[in-house]
Amino acid sequence: NWKLTNYIDETIADIKERVGDQKVILGLSGGVDSSVAAVLIHKAIGDQLQCIFVDTGLLRKDEGKKVMENYGEHFNLKIKMIDASERFLSKLAGVSDPEEKRKAIGNEFVAVFDEESKKIEGAKFLAQGTIYPDVIESQSVKGPSSVIKSHHNVGGLPEEMDFELLEPLRELFKDEVRKVGEELGIPHHLVHRHPFPGPGLGIRILGAVDEEKVRILQEADDIFIEELYKNDLYDKVSQAFVVLLPVKSVGVMGDERTYEYTAVVRSANTTDFMTATWSRLPYEFLDTISNRIINEVRGINRVAYDISSKPPATIEWE
Ligand code: XMP
Repeated sequence: NWKLTNYIDETIADIKERVGDQKVILGLSGGVDSSVAAVLIHKAIGDQLQCIFVDTGLLRKDEGKKVMENYGEHFNLKIKMIDASERFLSKLAGVSDPEEKRKAIGNEFVAVFDEESKKIEGAKFLAQGTIYPDVIESQSVKGPSSVIKSHHNVGGLPEEMDFELLEPLRELFKDEVRKVGEELGIPHHLVHRHPFPGPGLGIRILGAVDEEKVRILQEADDIFIEELYKNDLYDKVSQAFVVLLPVKSVGVMGDERTYEYTAVVRSANTTDFMTATWSRLPYEFLDTISNRIINEVRGINRVAYDISSKPPATIEWE
């Protein structure tokens, strides 16, 4: 595709010219946008790009390890991984209100990123994976009453940070970002990942978050995602994940009575994420994941399937 190759070549030339021999910092989340931005910028300026990956402890199972393998080893990006799980968990201790959780996670993210970026000497640019729909969204004037959920995007940083912004994907739509990613050699499954919210599993564990619940949810979610890939369903749904309810119910395992948490499997189909329907996943498939989650994840003895559309429900539960 000549247009795409042109775009990539021109953008690389622009980045080279603008950055010169200066350093660039980028908050890598492992999501599509920041990853494509990182690989593109790395092509232009190599190790002048320093990525910061914050492990909030609220990521999917083995996410940190996978990001280091996929982008650190395979693409040779310079990535500093910060294990901040304890900081996030302690800020979240006892907090059960969804908005308070979002704010706690968002503020802590900014604090960690701010500290880390200050350690990188002489960095002049801050790169972000902002894409065209983000630009439009932030320009639209919204009154406080229209704020349904306070969004936290990895890379959404306070203005007092003294960097010049570098946003090479600013003019692209999501499908174009994916094409650029594939053209740059990022594997299909990485550029076609479902979106993952900034607050992560923090808003998929209803009520108060703790380390044990994070572990339980990571295990259950990992089984669901693995089975979606295995059954060729991952690309047929727009976003899929497991939610952990703090509700215990009675079950039976062997001849023991159990009293454990409930997992909800959520899968949505949508084009714009403003409205969505629940995915009509095959019964046999639902049966498989329910059995696997209940048998393999200690702490869950019941699985429910979310059959709510948006509106009036939202895709996430908090
Ligand atoms: P809802 O739950 O509002 O979600 O139907 C719509 C889409 O937005 C994602 N989402 C977020 N993404 N930061 C993000 O970067 C956030 O705070 C956030 N909250 C929700 C959600 O995963 C879905 O794709």
